[in-house]
Amino acid sequence: PTGLLSDALGRPLHDLRISVTDRCNFRCVYCMPKEVFDKDYQYLPHGDLLSFEEITRVARLFIAHGVEKLRLTGGEPLLRKNLERLVAMLRALPTPSGRPLDLTLTTNGSILARKAQALKDAGLDRVTVSLDAMDDTVFRSMNDVDFAVADVLNGIDAAHAAGLGPVKVNMVVKGGTNDDQILPMARHFKGSPTILRFIEFMDVGASNGWNMRDVVPSHEVVRRISAELPLEPVAANYSGETASRWRYADGSGEIGVISSVTQAFCGDCSRLRLSTEGKLYTCLFATRGHDLRALLRADRSDLELSGAIAQLWRGRADRYSETRTAQTGIGQRDGARKVEMSYIGG
Ligand code: GTP
Ligand code: 5AD
Ligand code: SF4
Ligand code: SF4
Repeated sequence: PTGLLSDALGRPLHDLRISVTDRCNFRCVYCMPKEVFDKDYQYLPHGDLLSFEEITRVARLFIAHGVEKLRLTGGEPLLRKNLERLVAMLRALPTPSGRPLDLTLTTNGSILARKAQALKDAGLDRVTVSLDAMDDTVFRSMNDVDFAVADVLNGIDAAHAAGLGPVKVNMVVKGGTNDDQILPMARHFKGSPTILRFIEFMDVGASNGWNMRDVVPSHEVVRRISAELPLEPVAANYSGETASRWRYADGSGEIGVISSVTQAFCGDCSRLRLSTEGKLYTCLFATRGHDLRALLRADRSDLELSGAIAQLWRGRADRYSETRTAQTGIGQRDGARKVEMSYIGG
């Protein structure tokens, strides 16, 4: 029972985001604040993680249902041992359309310089690197583990050198914390092959203390940059793209803004998330997942798994970002806790 799927709001399934670990060596204040993710925090035990074989089996079924893009995330995906082995296994999967699979990875860049070549050799297409400031003091106040900007920049350079470009850089903008870095970041990457994207601070998870006051709206980001470095809008690459694109009027490259708070893009959201322990989440803001691992480990046939996947997507009606209110930051929704982004995958 394969074929193209459509959810309850008519949205196709294109993009599967796979979290390969719930651990990270950073403690970004908007994602894994130290007060919550301290030394006593209970990460998943190894046996609960999907194995590379299990992930590959699931990916194969999704590709048969029309998925054309896989993104490996976490946590910090490069902390998962031998990740390049998984990349090679996914690369080897045939696509029914004959079009090549888009195989990408989101990383904090901390050990990218060491891994870039092996990832490329295994068949990874490109990487997205998170970087929240050009200034070391500000960056350290965001990652909260004293990590230096130069090391992330080295990772980005290594990725380009290995052929994993054009690299995208994600900067989460938190008002009063790093919004003074918008222009320094824009200036730094202008004229380089790297595509910088500014993300509105989101009320994801239940522990980042989100408040609407800390959100710098994307139109404000564009206004501030454009005042010094004129920008003009560019059409989307594909329907359902998270970022709105802008290019420098002088032809020296493009930026993107991801406005999940002020300009929700649920209308054509074609993304599904597979958590580290094998639960499927139909929305980044879901409170509950669907346990695919139980089926995998109960020796169900591909046909049964495939049917369960199709049923889940057909019933999907999530559009959280379009329905959120300024009250949601307390982390409650229908009385349940939203799952953390480090677990579900960014
Ligand atoms: P490409 O365009 O293929 O490079 O990837 P992408 O746009 O999916 O980018 P990426 O995976 O880097 O996502 C960028 C950021 O957008 C994520 O880190 C999230 O912060 C946010 N984001 C991605 N998907 C969603 C989504 O479905 N809902 C919301 N609200 N935010 C999302
Ligand atoms: N709001 C917006 N973006 C976030 N990310 C993590 N937490 C948040 C949040 N609360 C981003 C990271 C990274 C990607 C995995 O998700 O910066 O780029
Ligand atoms: Fe780690 Fe990325 Fe979360 Fe920062 S945003 S704590 S780097 S998973
Ligand atoms: Fe998709 Fe949910 Fe994000 Fe809306 S809030 S774009 S439905 S993941």
